[in-house]
Amino acid sequence: MVIKNTSSDAERKMLSDAGYADPAINYYLEKKYMGHIENADQVSEKVGSCGDIMKVYIKMDQNNLIDDVRYEITGCAGAISAAMAAVDLVKGKTIEYALKINDGDVFKVLENIPEKKHHCIQLAVKTMHKGLQELKTEKV
Ligand code: FES
Repeated sequence: MVIKNTSSDAERKMLSDAGYADPAINYYLEKKYMGHIENADQVSEKVGSCGDIMKVYIKMDQNNLIDDVRYEITGCAGAISAAMAAVDLVKGKTIEYALKINDGDVFKVLENIPEKKHHCIQLAVKTMHKGLQELKTEKV
């Protein structure tokens, strides 16, 4: 038997009508990297031009690769989907690689979000880059 989650069906339709593609909607509904990391190597925060706030937690592994990234977000669906997609792009990668990820890379993963939400992708990427830069600086 399939149990229908009507509230997420309604959200899905609303987001789709607003211009979000399926991958973006899935990232938003699953929120798989939302939350915090208890023993993070780096915690950084950024406020977007819209006033929304993102906090990023970064954990490195023993080989100096990005083990895990989590976000706490006070922001819109665009920001949440972008941040979750950004994590998938950098997990298991080096800091240098992750610093080269840009808004366009995240947009490609999301496939589409409304144009007025593009600055939310920027906030997700900039917050992660801020965390990575600060982590790098501390390590030197
Ligand atoms: Fe503020 Fe999207 S993050 S409107």
